[in-house]
Amino acid sequence: MPSQARLTDSWMLGRLRVPNRVLLAPLAGIGNWFVRLQAKRYGAGMAVSEMISSHAVHYGNRKTCTEMLRIDVRERDAGPVAIQLFGEDPAIMRSAAAHVARAGADAIDINMGCPVPKVRKTGAGAALLADPDRAVAVARAAVQGAVGDAGRLPVTVKLRCGLRPGERSGLALAQRLVREAGVDAIALHPRSADVHHKGTPQYELAAMLAQSLPAPVILTGGLDSAARVREAFASTGVAAVMLARGALGNPWLFDELLRERQLPPTRGEVLSELEWTIGRAVEHLGEPRAARYLRKFYPWYVERLALPPAAARQLQAALQAAEGIGQARRLLDPLRAPLARDTLAAAI
Ligand SMILES: Cc1cc2nc3c(=O)[nH]c(=O)nc-3n(C[C@H](O)[C@H](O)[C@H](O)COP(=O)(O)O)c2cc1C
Repeated sequence: MPSQARLTDSWMLGRLRVPNRVLLAPLAGIGNWFVRLQAKRYGAGMAVSEMISSHAVHYGNRKTCTEMLRIDVRERDAGPVAIQLFGEDPAIMRSAAAHVARAGADAIDINMGCPVPKVRKTGAGAALLADPDRAVAVARAAVQGAVGDAGRLPVTVKLRCGLRPGERSGLALAQRLVREAGVDAIALHPRSADVHHKGTPQYELAAMLAQSLPAPVILTGGLDSAARVREAFASTGVAAVMLARGALGNPWLFDELLRERQLPPTRGEVLSELEWTIGRAVEHLGEPRAARYLRKFYPWYVERLALPPAAARQLQAALQAAEGIGQARRLLDPLRAPLARDTLAAAI
C-alpha cells in the first residue's frame, strides 16, 4: 500500500522512537562514529554502523572494541545509533549482542545481506539466506542477548531478496525472522546477492514485504537522489529508507529530504564539510592513519566542488598522493579564495 506517512514523521522500532524515516545505511570501512554523526548533523533519524564481526566482539579484539564499537557522545546526543553485527554462530552472536548493548547502542542490526566471498564463505552475511534455520537461530540469539541497562534493544536484520537474480528466499526468511526470532524490523535491499550493488533494485518486492510483514520494513538500494527516495518511499509503503552510496560525501541529501533544502551545497560548504571530516578523522585515528584513511573520502567531495574536469582530476591525484594531512590541507586552501579556479593549477 502506498505510504501515507511523511519522511519527517517519527516511527517506532520496537520500543525505540526514531525521530524520522531517513537513515544512514551500514557502510563497511566507512560508517564509523563520525560518518554517522555527520549524517545526523544533517538530519538522519538513525545511523547504522559499518558491519562488525560478532566473533571479534566476543573475543574482545582490541581494535574492534575500541575503534569500531566507538559511540561518541556527540553522536549519542544527535540521535539513535545501531551497531551492525555479522556472524553465523548463535552463541557468539548472543554474546556479541550483549556486549554491544552494554556499549550503549540503541539498536542492533544483523547482516544477512553481505555478498563478499570473505564473509559468505564463513556462513555469515548473504550465506544465511541459504540456511534459514541457522539464520533464525542467529537472529533469535541476538534478540536474547541484546539487553542493556534500559531493557531489550530492538534488533533488525538487513537482507537481500535472494541469492541469485529472480530468487525470493529473502522474503520468506524475513517472515520467519520476525515471527519466529522476534526481530523488530527488516531492512530489505531488493537486489540479489549475486549482483552485489549493480542493477535496478526491485522496489515492488519491498512493497510486497511491507504489506505482508507484521513489522516495519526499511528500504535500501538505489536511493541516490531526493526524487528517487520520495518516489520509492511513497510507492512501496515502507516504514523508512536507508541512504548508502547516495550519502557518501553528500550529507546534504538528508538536508534536502528532511529540512527542505533546495540548493546543492556551495563550494564553501563542501570545503568546510571536508575540513570537518579531516578534523574528525585525525581525532579518531591520529594523523598518519587518518591521512591514509581519508584517501577514500576525497573523491566524494572533489566531485562536488564544481571544478573544471581537468582541475578536478589534478586535485584528486594530488590529494591521493599527499604525504600527510598538512599537505592535503595546503592543496585545498587555495580553493577557499575567490579566484580559486585560476589559482588551482598553480597550487598543485
Ligand atoms: C562501500 C559499501 C559498503 C557497504 N557495507 C555494508 C555493510 O557493512 N553492511 C551492510 O549490510 N551493507 C553494506 N553495504 C550495502 C549498503 O548498506 C546498501 O544496502 C547498498 O549499497 C544499496 O544501497 P545503494 O544502492 O543506495 O548504495 C555497503 C555498500 C557499499 C557501497
